[in-house]
Amino acid sequence: MCGITGYTGSGSALPFLLQGMKCLEYRGYDSAGITLVDASMTTWKAKGRITELEKMLDAEHCPEHTGIGHTRWATHGVPSQLNAHPHNNMDDTISIIHNGIIENYVELKRELTGKGYVFSSQTDSEVVVHLIDDCFRENGHDMLKALETAVKRLQGSFALCIVTTYEKDKVYCAKKESPLVLGHSAEGSFCASDPTALLAYTREILAMEDGQIAVLTRDRIELYDFEGNPLPVSFVHYPYDAESAQQGGYDSFMRKEIHEQPDAIRGTLRGRFDAEDHLIMDEIESLNLDWDHLHRVYFIACGTAYHASIYGRTLLQRAAHISCIAEPASEFRYEDPIVDEHTLCIFVSQSGETADTLAAVRLARERHAATIALTNVLGSSISRMCDATIYTCAGPEIAVASTKAYTTQLVMLVCIDLKIAEKLHAVFPEEEKIIRSLKELPQIVEKTLDLEAQIEEYAGLLVDQHDAYFIGRQLDYPTALEGALKLKEISYVHADAYYAGELKHGPIALIEPDTVVVAIATQKDVASKTFSNMQETLARGANVIFLTDADTDARDFRRVVRIPACMEALAPIPAAVLLQELAYFTAKGKGCDIDKPRNLAKSVTVE
Ligand code: G6P
Repeated sequence: MCGITGYTGSGSALPFLLQGMKCLEYRGYDSAGITLVDASMTTWKAKGRITELEKMLDAEHCPEHTGIGHTRWATHGVPSQLNAHPHNNMDDTISIIHNGIIENYVELKRELTGKGYVFSSQTDSEVVVHLIDDCFRENGHDMLKALETAVKRLQGSFALCIVTTYEKDKVYCAKKESPLVLGHSAEGSFCASDPTALLAYTREILAMEDGQIAVLTRDRIELYDFEGNPLPVSFVHYPYDAESAQQGGYDSFMRKEIHEQPDAIRGTLRGRFDAEDHLIMDEIESLNLDWDHLHRVYFIACGTAYHASIYGRTLLQRAAHISCIAEPASEFRYEDPIVDEHTLCIFVSQSGETADTLAAVRLARERHAATIALTNVLGSSISRMCDATIYTCAGPEIAVASTKAYTTQLVMLVCIDLKIAEKLHAVFPEEEKIIRSLKELPQIVEKTLDLEAQIEEYAGLLVDQHDAYFIGRQLDYPTALEGALKLKEISYVHADAYYAGELKHGPIALIEPDTVVVAIATQKDVASKTFSNMQETLARGANVIFLTDADTDARDFRRVVRIPACMEALAPIPAAVLLQELAYFTAKGKGCDIDKPRNLAKSVTVE
């Protein structure tokens, strides 16, 4: 999704803007642009990578102290130089960048065209600059007032940064339903759509709330609500440094993040157990919920986080015998879900900014459900909307394909499920053993990473394939879904996941000699059933890659990957690591751009 950077300070703006935009590349983009402002303003825009933009800039002759930069991921209007941001007003005195979608742009465009404004792009965003220009003229050239008036006319979502030649030492920002963070240091003030873009300059960060306007100057940041009332400004010290958001010797962020999983899990579990190994989950303890009258628990998310949700729901329903439903956020809102004050909704989102997930939170809140956010990003929108927020402490995840966020979500969902079961007076099967195994998980994942050479060899089978099938039952099913998603996301091999028992009801028609079937059987009570399904594919010439536990009899199968000894309930965690590697080595074998797969964005802030 689009990325935003803005700067005003004692240094020159361009280096910050470019490094910030590069930090945000992982979100996915198709064009980029920068405006630098002084007595006059200059705007450069290019289709394609930031390097294309850099070719146009004469960096040594760009001393301006104020500027804004943007990476665009097309929603309205094709990727092109004209549609790239920033967008300027007609006399090049005001320049804006925008993330989000202006839903009433057609109506506003008609109105502004009637007043003589000429549009040069096909974007919804361009209406914002002409609207601000109009409001600026009507409010006696007072930009703060102009912005207050303009934002109230905008329907939809926006993170906006504005610079103007009238005040060349200021950056104005406004936010509604699209992320925007601010930072400050002795050098000046910064803004970006994601904290990672600021970390090389400052770790004192303020996440703007919906309905706020900020005025950035070299010496300070002022905050206002949309009525112009001043608001207190307070920064949070961000716990990660710029280094942790860099590639650090690995050939891709994805590979780095796969290898960070032992530490990410360690970090996520830190402080979660007391001296007697009792689970500490104050976020759930303090939830204002009538546990004795709880009727159902929803797990709601998108993409990879949705797969984590299926795992969380399966485990909880089994343990607590309460109705548990996993639902993609993009569907939840439209099916009139049974959600009321007897419902607990758990929203899982790495970024905490996914538009569909945030919309689902709003619906759950309207219907008086209790809401918990499980997210990886401190101060993200979801954390400000839910009754309680639980963090996975995976560190910044840069690669588009989610890895360490997924496994830490599974870890934390186990903890959440354990605590909910306790609140419901249910006996969680083998609770003590699960807690012991959770604590051993970082080492188990380390040992899992040692199986890399074997996975690399089996990935060779997939490199020339068009299709692959992933099968599993019970807790192995979300692993199959996630394995298939990883493979298609980064290697473009078409991959489908099925409940193993469903294979014979259709998909088996597609199995031919050399078709790759990845079978996951870590759950003992259903493993033998999965074996039969694997045999059915073997009989049709499939190449089966079999992921199983340490002691299952697998003599019938040629390619067996044994997950290091691990409790069954937690086996989907090391299994997911192996499938991440399978996707990674396949993509590498095919020469794909692993961190920036085509058409995908890290943070999907439009519905
Ligand atoms: C995008 C990403 C996926 C991610 C999904 C949900 O599609 O490419 O990796 O799983 O969004 O993101 P969230 O931040 O809500 O977990």
